[in-house]
Amino acid sequence: MKHLLTLEQLSKEELLDILNLADQLKFQKKNGIPHELLKGKTLGMIFQKSSTRTRVSFEVGMHELGGQALFLSSRDLQIGRGEPIQDTARVLSRYLDGIMIRTFEQKEVEDLAKYGSIPVVNALTDYCHPCQVLADLMTIREFKGAFEGLKCCYIGDGNNMANSIIVGVLRLGMKMSIACPKRYEPDAHILEFAKEFPGMFEMTEDPLVAAKDADVLFTDVWASMGQESEKAEREKIFKGIYQINDSVMAVAKPDAMVQHCLPAHREEEITNKVFEEHADEIFEEAENRLHAQKAVLVKLMA
Ligand code: CP
Ligand code: NVA
Repeated sequence: MKHLLTLEQLSKEELLDILNLADQLKFQKKNGIPHELLKGKTLGMIFQKSSTRTRVSFEVGMHELGGQALFLSSRDLQIGRGEPIQDTARVLSRYLDGIMIRTFEQKEVEDLAKYGSIPVVNALTDYCHPCQVLADLMTIREFKGAFEGLKCCYIGDGNNMANSIIVGVLRLGMKMSIACPKRYEPDAHILEFAKEFPGMFEMTEDPLVAAKDADVLFTDVWASMGQESEKAEREKIFKGIYQINDSVMAVAKPDAMVQHCLPAHREEEITNKVFEEHADEIFEEAENRLHAQKAVLVKLMA
């Protein structure tokens, strides 16, 4: 593994390898066992979009691994004034040991990896959010004990989260069911990917069909970062239908867990009641960003 650009690039073994290391690093942190595996290394963190969890967990993660992180807002970098990503990649490769980037187009992340000579981590694009889904998978195993035989369900926009969830869930042998409105389906590449798993993937417009007997329920915002101008139009289409609420929970397994990458919009994609009833799982998921990303950084940079 040279970079983490998408989840599709990881085999089941590589995925499990990262999750196992993440569990181990979580244990070490909880027990005060030092694990300075990236001593002296520097991670550059390029942000073209807002962030709470990603920024803080990467920065703290590098610190705990004995290295350091540099926050690089695109507002301040010359990228914001038009310096090409090809040149930025070649310059930063001479100072840093790794780059994490959150941006719009997936191609920018791929270009950074192509033209640079250091590991690149995708910290969210319009296409996917691999780091988040590693944390989600880690949390599922923590709460459910194993992946085998589980059914996961995603309700909402077929966005970056939906794309990465589908890949991670199918790759680890779980069933995946997604409910989304027409025209808001996951990316065509992801639907092609899902064809490699016959009988394991289902897509419907009806959340109650998708949620039936589910062990894990996911949702995400109706309008992602960069789609602010579509907010009102999307609300008309999603409102009252694409939501995790009591009716959805009633058709899922009685012990179903809920995952939300956050930030959440209560009473939109999830009711406040369901959110609070499942807050333990959701905030463990947020915590696991730290452990899962530390594992990725160690795999790429140690
Ligand atoms: N889930 C997630 O990526 O959160 P931030 O946007 O706060 O980083
Ligand atoms: N789909 C959301 C996820 C935020 C973590 C977005 O891209 O804004």
